[in-house]
Amino acid sequence: MLLPSPTATVIMGPMTTESLNQSRVRALIDPAIAALLTIEVLPSVDSTNAELMRRAADESVDGVVLLAEQQTAGRGRSGRRWSSPPSGNLYLSLGWHFPGDVAALSGLSLAVGVVVAESVAACCEVELLLKWPNDVVHPRGKVGGILVETAGSNASGVRVVIGVGLNLRMSEEGAKAIDQPWVDIGTLAEGVVPRHQLTARLVSSLWMLCSGWQAGGFGLWRDRWSQRDALYGRPVALDGVQPRAGLASGVAEDGGLLVDTEEGLIAVHSGEARLRKPGVQSQ
Ligand code: BTN
Repeated sequence: MLLPSPTATVIMGPMTTESLNQSRVRALIDPAIAALLTIEVLPSVDSTNAELMRRAADESVDGVVLLAEQQTAGRGRSGRRWSSPPSGNLYLSLGWHFPGDVAALSGLSLAVGVVVAESVAACCEVELLLKWPNDVVHPRGKVGGILVETAGSNASGVRVVIGVGLNLRMSEEGAKAIDQPWVDIGTLAEGVVPRHQLTARLVSSLWMLCSGWQAGGFGLWRDRWSQRDALYGRPVALDGVQPRAGLASGVAEDGGLLVDTEEGLIAVHSGEARLRKPGVQSQ
């Protein structure tokens, strides 16, 4: 398990960041992978996920990468909003046609978390943790989120939209809309975030994740996810139809959260895990 980074001194860098340029992103991707992708940068859109889902209704979005400078209705998990101001954050969606059954996609969003954390480590030298199921976090707060949606399936497979939001340089205005502890990579890296390099790395690593998924699913990613498990060994409370509490004990082969409860080890597959405060009774 990675140790949390020491608390960084807050140095506010310049609030303006270079605009994303699709040719620059493409030029930084291995040509063999870039040849399979269509990369588009939109100045503003309601939500990159929503836009890809709309397109997926009547065309193939396999290999389509949508990036936006701003989202006016960014979507988060469980119907929440994702604060998406035009300050230089990353809002990315990738369309993918998975030629298999939707059940085989279990754990995909966790593997996306590994890709995000490893890309940030490689490009920004910032180590991030993963909080089950889909949060990309730092001890100082949430840094990013992942929203995987499916746009229908048929005999030939499933249309998948993988959405990633990363706080690179959050504006004061955007911060007002966030209702939980958060931090941005600009603050953690104490310097300029290489936005194009990070985007290119993310896009190509996400595509490689998708291309290799059928070979072993989340099982191939589980060890790397576990190295960044922010909840391991900590008391958690689980919301849902059947609220439970126990000690977080890693993840199963299919991405379910393992929780050591009074009734034994259980695997949880949906809902949110909250850290329980010491002394608070289990529900
Ligand atoms: C979460 O709630 O943690 C998930 C947030 C996912 C946000 C990203 S930003 C790009 C893509 N488009 C969206 O509308 N949402 C995802």
